[in-house]
Amino acid sequence: MLTLLNLLRDGRFHSGQALGAALGVSRSAIWKQLQQLEAEYGLPIYKVRGRGYRLQSPLSLLDSSELNGRSAPWPHEVFESLDSTNAEVMRRLSAGGVPPFAVTAERQSQGRGRRGRRWVSPYAQNLYYSLALRIDGGARQLEGLSLVVGLAVLDTLRAFGLMSVGLKWPNDLLVGSRKIAGVLLELVGDPADICHVVVGIGINVNMQVAAEEIDQPWTSMQRESAELVDRNALVNRLSASLSAYLARHKSEGFSALREEWEAAHLWQGRAVNLIAGVQQIHGRVMGIDATGALRLSVDGEERAYSGGELSLRLSDDS
Ligand code: BTN
Repeated sequence: MLTLLNLLRDGRFHSGQALGAALGVSRSAIWKQLQQLEAEYGLPIYKVRGRGYRLQSPLSLLDSSELNGRSAPWPHEVFESLDSTNAEVMRRLSAGGVPPFAVTAERQSQGRGRRGRRWVSPYAQNLYYSLALRIDGGARQLEGLSLVVGLAVLDTLRAFGLMSVGLKWPNDLLVGSRKIAGVLLELVGDPADICHVVVGIGINVNMQVAAEEIDQPWTSMQRESAELVDRNALVNRLSASLSAYLARHKSEGFSALREEWEAAHLWQGRAVNLIAGVQQIHGRVMGIDATGALRLSVDGEERAYSGGELSLRLSDDS
């Protein structure tokens, strides 16, 4: 079926006869495979009498050889399908895998988002990327780490011409009020000693059709630029940006990147509600501190908040 997908990925028409000849099967076998492709991969296929079959839009498929070139900062493995790339990296770490290494998948059946949410992960449209890192500098090396990852993703999106993207604390990437990418860090081991961090990154790349399951306003790179994005080039740029930002974070600490982060923060100075479980704190965003914690002015007093379960919303009087 993947051979058939490869033939169709240009988004052009292919006759049943040509497809059958390329695969060495009958036209009716092609018809069956096309139906399977549609059902299993969720890829709409158009059939036009006299012209043949084509995908709704062209696909940019991940190619392991392009992702493991000479300039790749770490080895990279591509999967057709996974439950979650973060889960796969965790399995590899517990089986003795040596970081750094990265994993991507064309689709995820149980993509994980922050705060227990689901990350909708349709086939070959977006980027589902996880990187395994070893942290051996104790808790200090974790300070601001997830925000630094956000900066690397931002740098990557800007390199692809998306200049209107910004950050929302702690590590969402938005265009206006629409989410284009998210970051989920998961920790394995003892943060005070040697531990591993799984850096999970989801970027909406070529997704155009509103997936009903997505429960928040979203956009994608293709929606913003009206162009099909080469996902291999995107992964290579993301790895390079991550490598550069992580090296800087390791040698100089988060305080060296704090100003850059604040300059890209879309909600600087805005009135917000910080949601922590059932509790809501109303305040104005002042920025972040040297550890990456959010600084809010609450009732005229400055307070700092950090923690993976917090979520920020704009308040009506913003
Ligand atoms: C968020 O909620 O904003 C974080 C989303 C993170 C999604 C990515 S996709 C690759 C990696 N694997 C997962 O299961 N989740 C992360």
